[in-house]
Amino acid sequence: MSIRFGGLRAVDNVSFSIEPHSITTIIGPNGAGKSTLFNLISGALRPLSGKVLIDGIDQTGAPPYCIQQAGVGRSFQITNLFFELPVAENLRLAAQVLEPAGKLWRPIAAGAESRARVSELLEQFDLAAKAHRSVAQLSHGEQRRLELAVALAGKPRLLMLDEPTQGMSHGETEDTALLIRTLAGKQPFSLSSMISASS
Ligand SMILES: Nc1ncnc2c1ncn2[C@@H]1O[C@H](COP(=O)(O)OP(=O)(O)O)[C@@H](O)[C@H]1O
Ligand SMILES: [Mg+2]
Repeated sequence: MSIRFGGLRAVDNVSFSIEPHSITTIIGPNGAGKSTLFNLISGALRPLSGKVLIDGIDQTGAPPYCIQQAGVGRSFQITNLFFELPVAENLRLAAQVLEPAGKLWRPIAAGAESRARVSELLEQFDLAAKAHRSVAQLSHGEQRRLELAVALAGKPRLLMLDEPTQGMSHGETEDTALLIRTLAGKQPFSLSSMISASS
């Protein structure tokens, strides 16, 4: 896959495939094209050449909501939360993708699937006590946890995390690595160490 911005080849013939329950890491210095690659896969940008295949289906250039429905979730390098909204509302908005198509604008009461998912994530990420606080009132560690929960809300089968440990201490970085291994099914689910380090 390739893309150019004017004369700059930001992504030049990058090709790889990802297996279920695996962790794939993209490494490169600032400006190498990592975030651009994520934008190409998630549908924010359309490649100049090449294809994005998800479960063998060509999704090249499909809009982000289609890529999301195909099972791809992502977090952003820059925090992508609604700071003035409550924690639970951030999760509910992200979980709406689980509702059958066409039901998004029904009353909130109709959103049974997304409500169940919100409760599940609040528990799993130990944010239940903060469900009705605004994101702005959370600690940095809690915000990072919520970001992951938001990225997972739509039950993605491919989760893309853009520099998930940026700005974290050594301890928080280790805990996040453990969490990522857990999410990939390589470790039983446990958030206890992450919570002790970051809150
Ligand atoms: N929308 C854009 N328009 C023009 N140039 C861009 C755009 N997005 C990224 N770039 C450029 O592409 C290169 C790769 O950027 P980026 O993917 O953000 O790198 P990384 O995430 O590896 O640090 C950089 O030189 C950046 O300035
Ligand atoms: Mg980047």
